[in-house]
Amino acid sequence: MMILENEQATLDAGRKLGKLLRAGDKIALRGTLGAGKTTLARGMLEGLGYSEEVPSPTFAIVQPYEPPDTRIPVAHVDLYRIDDPEEIPELGLEEVLVDGAMIVEWPDRMPDGFWNDALNLELEITVEGNRRLTWTAGNAWNNRWPLT
Ligand SMILES: Nc1ncnc2c1ncn2[C@@H]1O[C@H](COP(=O)(O)OP(=O)(O)O)[C@@H](O)[C@H]1O
Ligand SMILES: [Mg+2]
Repeated sequence: MMILENEQATLDAGRKLGKLLRAGDKIALRGTLGAGKTTLARGMLEGLGYSEEVPSPTFAIVQPYEPPDTRIPVAHVDLYRIDDPEEIPELGLEEVLVDGAMIVEWPDRMPDGFWNDALNLELEITVEGNRRLTWTAGNAWNNRWPLT
């Protein structure tokens, strides 16, 4: 468990995580609207070397990033607007993992089991108005998470 005191702390945690990402990584970001999922993803993209404004993928659903803009290919995904599981294969997410990583908001639209080997992060808004970050991590994350 980690308490993120303000937006900057969320960005910093994301930035450190972004530096550790490698091809095949799945990051699931859970939490209510406004919990800070996109903020954390912005930090990760910064840590991956992206220096432009990071849009929320709410409308695009999949926002792809490629070298040289990022160190490795990354798909920033928001499945909020997916309400039929049949739409998921069309997004081409499996291909991303061959040489890149995915960062996914509203990950529970994916089939059961998809996130077993992922870094599953959950953000909650505390009564004080900061954020509580909790997680479960697959074996791929041994020695990488939690951040030291
Ligand atoms: N640790 C934090 N403490 C307080 N506010 C935060 C923190 N992290 C992010 N925020 C704020 O939360 C708001 C919603 O963030 P956003 O990343 O868009 O949420 P989500 O993608 O989960 O809907 C933003 O205004 C952001 O500045
Ligand atoms: Mg968001």
